[in-house]
Amino acid sequence: MIKIIPTAIENLSPYVPGRLIEEVEVEMGISGMVKLASNENSLGSSPLALAAVEKALPHIFRYGDADSRALKNALAAKYGFDPAGLVCGNGSSEFILVLAHGLINPGANAVMSRPSFTLYAKNVQAAAGRAIEAPLTPEYGHDLQSILDKIDKDTRLVFLDNPLNPTGAYLEAGELTAFYEALPETVILVLDEAYIEFTRKARPDYGTWLKDSERVVIMRTFSKIYGLAGLRAAYAVMSPQLASALNKIRQPFNTSLLAQVGAAAALSDDDFLRRTLNMTWSSLDYYAAELPAIGLKVYPTEANFMMAALPEGRSADEVFQALLRQGVIIRSLSSFGLDRHLRFNAGLEAERRALVEAFKKVLYS
Ligand SMILES: Cc1ncc(COP(=O)(O)O)c(C=O)c1O
Repeated sequence: MIKIIPTAIENLSPYVPGRLIEEVEVEMGISGMVKLASNENSLGSSPLALAAVEKALPHIFRYGDADSRALKNALAAKYGFDPAGLVCGNGSSEFILVLAHGLINPGANAVMSRPSFTLYAKNVQAAAGRAIEAPLTPEYGHDLQSILDKIDKDTRLVFLDNPLNPTGAYLEAGELTAFYEALPETVILVLDEAYIEFTRKARPDYGTWLKDSERVVIMRTFSKIYGLAGLRAAYAVMSPQLASALNKIRQPFNTSLLAQVGAAAALSDDDFLRRTLNMTWSSLDYYAAELPAIGLKVYPTEANFMMAALPEGRSADEVFQALLRQGVIIRSLSSFGLDRHLRFNAGLEAERRALVEAFKKVLYS
């Protein structure tokens, strides 16, 4: 038979998303399940975004603005970015794909931590590049020296999620600046800030090195902080030169008309932002207070989720399945290579209580 599928694609394992709530409810015969598996916003979506999307609905027979100008202007007004260095996208997942396919030629490689967001390695491999993975520090943070050590003459991209998915670890501005300065000039640093809005620490101020550099891409998403995961809207900040290169290869209408208006409206929803942060932080504080008392080791987090390690002898997959039977969906980190670790996101009061009660039942009865 003629070989049609390239080996690089044949060898890829598919992305493992969090389970769909409707699907799990049917499978388990339980209704009203609690889902804390995909780092979504348990408060729902920004009301200002929802109103804008509803208002725009009659117009979806038309194509949206291929350059997302109104959204870029709203981002420029809020954060002071140069609109010429902004690219909008169908979720930040799209940027990972476009960067890998645009900048990784066969023989080139990209370096990332393992574990970190799994789409980095997959997209680099799909682009026939090599994904080189560096281990985390013993505290489950990015090991920046180890990443630097893995870089070679064929490295084009370094992916760094900050905060790090799935552990929640956070890099401060000083560490990032030193890392950027140590990178060879042939490497582009992709800073994935999908969860940056949730940090309680100082946000990195990239100062001049972002403004002057052609070698940095910062990706942010509306999926988490504004509760718009199903809408698919994100933006990336980079030099105008790199932005014009990526604009040539992305799909022209990648950010839908609805995504553009919803995201632009969300940017001014300070009330939703504040409520989201309050819900997230009180939830994470609750987990940190309750879970160690029932034998789980919790890790510091600056994201909207937390990682916890099970007691010796328990496996993440087994506990994940048992929690499903208790009506709670979280994430086993076995697909990230962590067999005794679980990840769950912040939730409403009833959701976070349900998780802790389910843990008690699963671990002790
Ligand atoms: C670190 C990280 N980056 C990017 C994404 C993708 O987000 P989206 O494509 O919804 O913008 C996720 C989603 O979970 C993530 O955890």
